[in-house]
Amino acid sequence: MARKIIIDTDPGQDDAVAILLALASPELQVLAITAVAGNVPLDLTAKNARKVCELAGRTDIPVYAGCDAPLKRTLVTAEHVHGKTGLDGIELPEPVMELQDMHAVDFLIHELRRHPPGTVTLCPLGPLTNIAAALTRAPDIAERIEQIVLMGGAYFEVGNVTPAAEFNIYVDPEAAAVVFAAGVPLVVMPLDVTHKVLVTHERVARFEAMGTRVGHVVASWTHFFERFDVAKYGSQGAPLHDPTVIAYLLAPALFSGRYINVEIETQGEFTQGMTVADWWRVSARAPNALFIKDVDAEGLFALLSERIGRL
Ligand code: RIB
Ligand code: CA
Repeated sequence: MARKIIIDTDPGQDDAVAILLALASPELQVLAITAVAGNVPLDLTAKNARKVCELAGRTDIPVYAGCDAPLKRTLVTAEHVHGKTGLDGIELPEPVMELQDMHAVDFLIHELRRHPPGTVTLCPLGPLTNIAAALTRAPDIAERIEQIVLMGGAYFEVGNVTPAAEFNIYVDPEAAAVVFAAGVPLVVMPLDVTHKVLVTHERVARFEAMGTRVGHVVASWTHFFERFDVAKYGSQGAPLHDPTVIAYLLAPALFSGRYINVEIETQGEFTQGMTVADWWRVSARAPNALFIKDVDAEGLFALLSERIGRL
């Protein structure tokens, strides 16, 4: 029986690779994709989600548009990383498939109430606005969610958008605070682990060598995406953040971390959006998240390449 998941996303080249990995993996049943404002505004993330579904030949996947701004703040985007379209690196055709009419937040509430409790996993890959809005509007859904596996936060790796905060959490700290306090089983993929998943030239070449349309598109995205991080970190490739979420569902043994308390800073003058991870368990605060720190990066890329090669 395939594991039922909903991907909440702000594509973003790395989101797009994560979506392709999920669609290429029979272990997972993607019930829907919900778009949120983040890397680029909502109209583009909702369009990009559909472009990725069409690239994968999966126009059967319903795509919903969600919140176009954080719960309480003005939207911060990241065109400098992802380009103006959010999927720069290669030109993809305008999507033909339609957006669903229902708002993503209404969909999340209805869908979680429709499935048996504990049978649907949420995979947020962007700011947590949609998830928090659903949990706030319908608190009953919290106990119905099997697990939330999200990309966000940072501790040892510190921030990427401010010295203290990672982008997904920084864009909507209030939303993140709701999700981390909801009592839902939570697995967090912070920069601590995603910065160990670098798309080196050799790995980009592996996608290109597939000789498939999808392989070429993924190589183009990862090549474009890397320029910002290589310039900033001097690393030998861009961190492929969001696919770690899907890879965790497929092969959790590739990862390791600690079940600890993680709080979200929403007030600090310099630290808003920081994930305050009690890695050394020095506080009396109850653990609420499996905070991942290490990964077998070569194992992840072997899995990713094998699956992308199927599309
Ligand atoms: O900080 C990295 C995260 O922000 C990734 O999810 C990337 O897609 C952007 O949303
Ligand atoms: Ca993302």
